[in-house]
Amino acid sequence: MGAEYDVIIVNGVVVTDTELGEYDVAIKGEKIIKVVPRGQLKDASATRTIDAEGGYVMPGGVDAHVHLQEPPLFGMGSTADTYETGSRSAVCGGTTTMVTFAPQKKSEDTLLDTLKATHEKAKDNCYIDYSFHLLVGNPSERALSEFKTLRDEGISSLKIYMTYEALQLNDSQILDVLLEARRNQITTMVHAENGQVIDWMTAQLEKRKLFAPKYHGTSHPPMAEIEATYRAISLSEFIDSPILIVHVSTPAAAKHIKEAQDRGIPIYAETCPQYLFLTKKDLDQPGFEGAKCVCSPPPRESEADCDVIWDGIANGTFTILSSDHCPFRFDDNVTGKKTCITDEYPQGHFKYIPNGIAGIETRLSLALGADRLDVKKFVEVTSANPAKLYGLWPKKGALIEGESDADINIWYPPGKMQDFALTNDLLHHDVDYTAFEGRTMKQWPRYTLLRGKVVWDKDGKGLLGEKGYGRFVKRGPSMLAGPRYAGEWEIPL
Ligand SMILES: *[C@@H]1O[C@H](CO)[C@@H](O)[C@H](O)[C@H]1NC(C)=O
Ligand SMILES: *[C@@H]1O[C@H](CO)[C@@H](O)[C@H](O)[C@H]1NC(C)=O
Ligand SMILES: *[C@@H]1O[C@H](CO)[C@@H](O)[C@H](O)[C@H]1NC(C)=O
Repeated sequence: MGAEYDVIIVNGVVVTDTELGEYDVAIKGEKIIKVVPRGQLKDASATRTIDAEGGYVMPGGVDAHVHLQEPPLFGMGSTADTYETGSRSAVCGGTTTMVTFAPQKKSEDTLLDTLKATHEKAKDNCYIDYSFHLLVGNPSERALSEFKTLRDEGISSLKIYMTYEALQLNDSQILDVLLEARRNQITTMVHAENGQVIDWMTAQLEKRKLFAPKYHGTSHPPMAEIEATYRAISLSEFIDSPILIVHVSTPAAAKHIKEAQDRGIPIYAETCPQYLFLTKKDLDQPGFEGAKCVCSPPPRESEADCDVIWDGIANGTFTILSSDHCPFRFDDNVTGKKTCITDEYPQGHFKYIPNGIAGIETRLSLALGADRLDVKKFVEVTSANPAKLYGLWPKKGALIEGESDADINIWYPPGKMQDFALTNDLLHHDVDYTAFEGRTMKQWPRYTLLRGKVVWDKDGKGLLGEKGYGRFVKRGPSMLAGPRYAGEWEIPL
């Protein structure tokens, strides 16, 4: 007779988005079988017992904004991490499920080929479970007609851009996407920045020969985000089609979102650690250093802006906290940040710096270690809500007996882990720097389990998971509020 359970986790403080308490957890195979008051498993037989020693026991992280192995869509650089290295980095930071982008180019007519090509990149290469958001670069008639098939294939979200010439949709195209998304119970993610404003500002700076990395921030004024956010909300409200505004960085954009939510419109919002921990100062570094923190939207003015974003997480304006892991190497003039250093621009030109920073491994530890969020709220925005919003719950983002996969993070109890300064060599991505170098880390996952297997053991061998263990997960529709009205959208006559 084998043991009753494969793994039991005892003496932990279990935290989900709705509960916090002293519970023990039993796992059989890939599933959570029991969550019972502390002590009740003391006579149970298990192949392995993990003593959480009073540390938090939480559902594994779900990161719903991840760019891996993408072609150079914006004509600048290409993402450093592959599915292998990106998912490896994820699991070493406690993220057990990721939703990455499957990018359709403007020159392509179909989304289904994009989906197929992305499956091929991910298959047998991932350390963690995964799904894809289709990134719609060309909402052709054919692409729109494929939304239904996407749903059959387990894809229930899309992303569109209001900026970047290579991907930007105009308002008519956005309405087309929203309408078809509504019909198919698909959530549309929107990168809300006004591309024409950014281009105009860029031209103004070029006329003045201002090319340093810090002018990336100047070229993306808060107004460009505020205007596009309000426009996205308006278009979504008109079609009654739910959207999620990605990577919100500006207090005034957050205010528009909050007001829309208060009116009962299905508007969701995401923010990222870069808008909680970085500011304009990080872009304004000597030489080319600031390029390390170039992302869009850029880190904003001051810590006061970051405080408003933290408040927005606490008060529910932000539905999810994602990494927007968009990794580029720094010291690399072929695919990385230094591609913008040329004979014409020997100091580089901000316009050509690949936009993005790596953060899939640091997202959870930075946010929890900051000790600014209620721990249930932390689980909500980093695990439960991304799973609910994108149709993965309760398989992911929960610890429900018989229903949830045994994806679990066990954190250090107080006093058990020495604070340490983050350095890039501690991370597992394929990037030569981290924008969070030198930050004091006060937490890190001690153990991470994915479908019942211990895949990370910080004080033991570290990474224990294996490439190829991660699986594609089919997703259903969003479990958060959908359109306000039933039936087909009608032209308001
Ligand atoms: C929007 O873009 C589409 C596709 O390029 C084009 O056919 C259409 O005319 C554009 N609409 C407007 C209002 O510019
Ligand atoms: C909630 O946060 C948003 C965005 O940060 C802010 O605009 C709003 O004033 C806050 N609301 C309350 C009631 O605190
Ligand atoms: C890129 O960097 C390498 C190594 O530093 C250098 O030899 C090469 O000239 C650079 N290429 C360009 C296009 O600047």
